[in-house]
Amino acid sequence: MKEKIDGILAELKSEIDSVKTNQDVTNIKAKYVGKSGYVTELSKLMGSVPNEEKKEVGQMVNALRESVNELIASKEKEINDAILNEKLEKESIDITLPGKKIKRGSLHPMTRITEEFEDLFVSMGYTVFEGPELESDENCFQKLNLPKGHPARDAQDTFYLKDEVENYLLRSQTSTAQVRAMESNTDKGPIRIVCPGKVYRRDEDATHSHQFMQIEGLVIDKNISMADLKGTLEVMMKRVLGEKTEVRFRPSYFPFTEPSVEVDVTCFKCGGKGCALCKQTGWIEVLGAGMVHPNVLSMSGYDPSVYQGFAFGTGMDRMAMFKYAIPDIRTIYGNDIRFIEQFDRKDVD
Ligand code: PHE
Repeated sequence: MKEKIDGILAELKSEIDSVKTNQDVTNIKAKYVGKSGYVTELSKLMGSVPNEEKKEVGQMVNALRESVNELIASKEKEINDAILNEKLEKESIDITLPGKKIKRGSLHPMTRITEEFEDLFVSMGYTVFEGPELESDENCFQKLNLPKGHPARDAQDTFYLKDEVENYLLRSQTSTAQVRAMESNTDKGPIRIVCPGKVYRRDEDATHSHQFMQIEGLVIDKNISMADLKGTLEVMMKRVLGEKTEVRFRPSYFPFTEPSVEVDVTCFKCGGKGCALCKQTGWIEVLGAGMVHPNVLSMSGYDPSVYQGFAFGTGMDRMAMFKYAIPDIRTIYGNDIRFIEQFDRKDVD
């Protein structure tokens, strides 16, 4: 028995160096400790060992099994370590190579200017109120005091839906937000909102696009006057176009406000002296506004003898064109990355 044990160990020792792969490990395991491996076979012979030798032989067989397992396990580890090292070697990264520049996007000028307006009004206690672009004729016109057939509708010709959704259209103005805000305010209390968003009209030239952006402001409360409107617009224009900007009101007409005004700002190019941009007048028209018409208030459930309000609406594309000196509105919607990149925050690069 002892010779057998020594023989097995010697054979394994002589073989182990030729074990190179995991497959060799599997084979050698089968040969020595597998179901009919040498060591297993040897254990089966225990029955024929005389009782008085059993203990000693048993210990020898166990010691053999341990040595065999250890030898094979250390070989296996050696092989796996080598495989891992080779893999690491291959996958090593050359950190001395220059990195690839990550291309960072930039905010679209319309996003920038929208955020600027929103930040300003939120800081004055307004909330941002969003309405849908697909609107009913009722919200876009009728409840703003423009019944069907009203001549002022002509200036806001838009895109209409037909068939099952007749009487729906792409909103031509964000003033629809006035109706939605008043109607959804079920306690009929004060309102202070701005509504930025896309609007649509049948227009197309260098300064008009069939799709453009407006921002609407609406304040409803008791004791609201034109003075509040003027103060608010002055703050807004100075913030967006610069502190030196002056604001003037001219009487105008909108069906949903009474009185109505058209608002001009001093030309930011010549500072009011007169130039080609302002057609030598020193002023540029930027906005429509007025006191909310009593009919509009009462159609949306507000008592005009208790509440007043002011509203204003301005084209944000126009503001962006002034602020960033964009000569053609179509570039804003052209999706040309070279245009948008000019508004990148280069200073942080
Ligand atoms: N909705 C008007 C327009 O698009 C602008 C406006 C808004 C005028 C609010 C008065 C009050 O021309």
